[in-house]
Amino acid sequence: MVRRFIVGNWKMHKTISQAESLIQAILKIYHPQTSVELAVAPPFVALQAVSGLLGSTSIKLAAQNVCAKDEGAFTGEISPPMLREAGCQYVIIGHSERRHIFGETDQDIHAKIHAALRHSLLPIVCVGERLEERQANQTQSVIQHQLLTGLDGLESKDLAHITIAYEPVWAIGTGQAATVDQAAEVHAHIRFLLGKQWGVNPDQTRIIYGGSVTPDNAQMLFQSPQINGALVGKACLNSESFVKIAQLATSD
Ligand code: 13P
Repeated sequence: MVRRFIVGNWKMHKTISQAESLIQAILKIYHPQTSVELAVAPPFVALQAVSGLLGSTSIKLAAQNVCAKDEGAFTGEISPPMLREAGCQYVIIGHSERRHIFGETDQDIHAKIHAALRHSLLPIVCVGERLEERQANQTQSVIQHQLLTGLDGLESKDLAHITIAYEPVWAIGTGQAATVDQAAEVHAHIRFLLGKQWGVNPDQTRIIYGGSVTPDNAQMLFQSPQINGALVGKACLNSESFVKIAQLATSD
């Protein structure tokens, strides 16, 4: 069994001072458990301040996006070495908001995954279908395309550094999380694809679920051995609900 992983994606919330307050509140009430790894993904400008506060605690720092280039004339972009120096260990890549609001393609995501790995940043790769794709029975083919294009060119050993986040677009920010069965079915399919393509041991692939995860539904989701944790949006903006979700993931 892989270690459970709970990631808080703050999206475009919290100024630097608000970010500091939230981290201080989390640190006050969170008791680390060996069975769970916790990470937070604040906005870029708050990364360094949050990194300073996290210090040598067990909570990891993640960025919400990264540029595929190392440096150069790319106005507005943030490179992997910049994220490393700001204290990031993880980076979220291919979030549905990046894909659907900012037009990121599977090729962009592929380049970002390779760039992150080149600089020892651990990618949290998001995949997920839209409502109309689910209704048209295209969930498996959409996930397969996102996964195989995004991870193309990687070797089996690279897969050990990657977390997959299944985030159905229709469940994000809607208050309507996937059911355990819906999530577990897609997670199993992802495990199958990674096994078939890269020979990855299915038990060693870390696949987390995202989309309206709250303290009320987390326990139910974590009952499935297919679900190795959560990528949390709204509920991570409050210290108590975020820490509660982390506690529900523990098996210590
Ligand atoms: P919500 O938890 O607000 O639905 O957001 C999920 C998400 O997109 C996390 O990356």
